[in-house]
Amino acid sequence: MSNKDKIIVALDFESCDKALELVESLDGYANFFKIGLGLIGRGGLELACELKKRGLYIFLDLKLFDISNTIKNAVKGLCEAKFDFLTVQGDPQVIKAAVEGRGTSITKILAVTFLTSLNRRDLDQNLIIPGEIQTLVCNRAEKAILAGADGVIASPQELSIIRENPLCMKKIIVTPGIRQTNSAVDDQKRVATPYDALRMGASHLVIGRPIYQAKDPVAAYEEIKMQILNN
Ligand code: C5P
Repeated sequence: MSNKDKIIVALDFESCDKALELVESLDGYANFFKIGLGLIGRGGLELACELKKRGLYIFLDLKLFDISNTIKNAVKGLCEAKFDFLTVQGDPQVIKAAVEGRGTSITKILAVTFLTSLNRRDLDQNLIIPGEIQTLVCNRAEKAILAGADGVIASPQELSIIRENPLCMKKIIVTPGIRQTNSAVDDQKRVATPYDALRMGASHLVIGRPIYQAKDPVAAYEEIKMQILNN
């Protein structure tokens, strides 16, 4: 993977045709794409397999959560397609089962710590123990790594503190919430520029709307890439 493959383009479309159109317009520029739950019921898994066959890197963002036996079986099936990244919820028993299911496949298992859309009040409602979200995210990241995860998903706010943990120092950290200084933040609450997110410790950036909603997605992608490469 080269430096530009630190940018993962999120294919958050309502149809695979539109997603494929963006992939093809970025042909020769972007190599790494994320397919998530929005496309899964619309042929997203088949699209992910097709893109893999074309030699692209694929992040399958399914945030899986179930009993160990089911997770193991689900991950085993998904890993046959040799996707590059797969997300599961960050509970240690889920991660252990996912790692077992992955077996010797190249797929990296990434743990979701807490969704960035949750605040402390939401965590109270979900009966999560008291404490600062940042601290809890770090504890969850540590437990995820100890359970065998190859990395975690983290917002820009948690990057530095997760990286300080010796267990997480060399692990994959994928960061959403990436915005250029003057662009709309949309529904993201904790944002950072591509350069800052990498400086704070992200290994990969997931970027959706700033690329696919741009008038010229190739130009938007290239601008982000240049910022990363020049810094
Ligand atoms: O359009 P935008 O750049 O905000 O897209 C960010 C992508 O990252 C979306 O696909 C979203 O589902 C994903 N994501 C996120 N926050 C998380 C986990 C994933 O925004 N905590």
